[in-house]
Formats: sequence, C-alpha cells, structure tokens
Amino acid sequence: MKFFLAALLFFHGIVLTMAQAQAPAKAQAPAPGPAGPTNVTAILSKAGQFTMFIRLLQSTQEADQINNQLNNSNSGLTIFAPPDNSFSNLKSGLLNSLSDQQKVQLVQFHVLPNYISQSEFQTASNPLRTQAGNSNDGEYPLNITTSGNQVNITTGVVNTTVSNSLYSDGQLAVYQVDQVLLPLAFFRTPAPAPAPVAAKPKKGAKEADTSDDDNTDDSSGAIELVNFGLSKVVFAASLVASIYMVL
Ligand SMILES: *[C@@H]1O[C@H](CO)[C@@H](O)[C@H](O)[C@H]1NC(C)=O
Ligand SMILES: *[C@@H]1O[C@H](CO)[C@@H](O)[C@H](O)[C@H]1NC(C)=O
Ligand SMILES: *[C@@H]1O[C@H](CO)[C@@H](O)[C@H](O)[C@H]1NC(C)=O
Ligand SMILES: *[C@@H]1O[C@H](CO)[C@@H](O)[C@H](O)[C@H]1NC(C)=O
Ligand SMILES: *[C@@H]1O[C@H](CO)[C@@H](O)[C@H](O)[C@H]1NC(C)=O
Repeated sequence: MKFFLAALLFFHGIVLTMAQAQAPAKAQAPAPGPAGPTNVTAILSKAGQFTMFIRLLQSTQEADQINNQLNNSNSGLTIFAPPDNSFSNLKSGLLNSLSDQQKVQLVQFHVLPNYISQSEFQTASNPLRTQAGNSNDGEYPLNITTSGNQVNITTGVVNTTVSNSLYSDGQLAVYQVDQVLLPLAFFRTPAPAPAPVAAKPKKGAKEADTSDDDNTDDSSGAIELVNFGLSKVVFAASLVASIYMVL
C-alpha cells in the first residue's frame, strides 16, 4: 500500500512537471508584453477598422521600417492612420493605379519623422515634414490648421481632419484622419515621367493577415495542450493501476 501511494505521488509529480514545462511557452504567445518593442501593426489592429492601412504598411515593408525606427530613434514618430471607410471613398481604381514606389510614398506621407502631441500641433509650422519626398519642394506638402483641439489637414488635394487620438506614449503618436492623405505629387500633370526606376523585384506582397488567425492558432494550441496533458494522465493512471494489480 505504501508503495502504491509512493508510485501514485511519483507519477502525479511527472504529470505536473510535464504540464508545467509545456504551459509557459504557450501562455506567452497571445500577449506581447508591454516591455517589448513598439509594434505599429499591433496598435492599429487593436484599434480596429484599419485593415487596409495595415495591409499597405505590410506590403510596402513600411511596418518593419517604422518598428525599427521606433526602436532606434529618440525623436519618435507620428502616424496619421486612415480607417477602412476612407479607402472605400477613394476614386475607384486609384490605389491599384499606383506603382509600388508610389505606394511606399503614400504610406510615408502618413508618417512624420517626429513625435507630435495633440497640443504641439498648435505650434507646428507648415508645411509639416513627412517621410515622403520633400515637403518644401511643393510635391508633398502637408499643412495643418488648428483651432483649440481641432486639427485640420490639407495636402492641396485633400482637406480632412484629425478625428481621434488612437495611441500616444511620448515616442509614437497615432491619430485617426478622416481621409486618405493623397499627396499633390500624384496629381501633377505628368512632367516627363521620371524614368521608371528599375522596379524593385516585388518583395513578397504578403497579404495582410487579420489577427483572427492568431486567435485560432492560440486556442487550438491550448486544446492540444489539454489533450497532451490528458493522455499523460491516462497513461500515468494505467501505469499506477497495473503496478497496483501486480502488488
Ligand atoms: C506585430 O504585431 C502583429 C499583429 O499583432 C504581428 O502579426 C507581428 O508578428 C508583430 N511583429 C513583431 C515584430 O512583433
Ligand atoms: C532594438 O534595438 C536594440 C539596440 O539597438 C537591439 O539590440 C534590438 O535587437 C532591437 N530590437 C528589435 C526588435 O529590432
Ligand atoms: C476645419 O475644417 C472644418 C470643416 O471643413 C471647418 O469648419 C473648420 O473651420 C476648420 N477648422 C480649422 C481650425 O481650420
Ligand atoms: C502649405 O503652407 C505653406 C506655408 O504656409 C504654403 O506656402 C503652401 O502653399 C501651403 N500648401 C498647401 C497645399 O496648403
Ligand atoms: C480645401 O480647403 C481650401 C481652403 O479652405 C479650399 O480652397 C480648397 O478648395 C479645398 N480643397 C478641397 C479638395 O476640398
């Protein structure tokens, strides 16, 4: 009987140890801790309604650029994020008519190379510097006008307004804008088109995954863990039972 109890405790210990060894790796996956580097994709998918902008950020590799810049610079960044409905308001076919290079510039036009808090807009001077082109050569101007908390934006093509502050941590600010910010450069009567720069080989135009996929993975992972644990328990129980019978 003593041996039976000892065996039971022994196998119980093995099962617990195995379950514990498995658990932490799985538990860390769903929640990227706040300590990790800032992830602009994660911020936008948490805000919801930004799948088109996220897709552009990813297909142009700008999401990685931005994350790297945030990890390596002290001046921070400001991002104007247009929601999905603003993309459906674009003239149809416009997005598809852009070259890969223009798509990069479109995304970069929504990113300012410094952190601007809501109150700092009031003292910012026009044109604002963006990561696209040169704000002073008249091709990529982005001007704002403010009144109290209201911030309006004009690009010379689009007039819109900052409708919401989505994220701000002193290094990265993300604001929702009501329209896609189209730069003047895209609409200038074509000066002899700049010799099509040997189009970069299409970098893996990864389609943006929605975060739903991650959730599915995580839950199925959890089920696997439960199954794994259960089979161990059954195995241990049958071992204990056979030892008991031998005695
Ligand atoms: C950033 O977040 C997205 C969505 O949550 C995720 O798919 C991606 O792997 C993350 N990137 C990094 C570098 O953590
Ligand atoms: C962030 O920067 C640090 C130091 O520059 C570097 O060691 C680290 O690998 C970077 N992390 C990412 C995710 O790029
Ligand atoms: C912003 O735009 C709105 C709508 O076009 C206008 O009514 C408002 O006066 C503008 N405010 C500023 C500060 O430019
Ligand atoms: C932006 O502001 C600058 C400086 O005030 C001005 O010269 C330029 O015409 C403005 N551009 C647009 C599109 O409003
Ligand atoms: C944007 O606003 C300016 C000044 O209020 C106006 O002159 C211009 O026509 C507007 N542009 C568009 C595209 O609505």
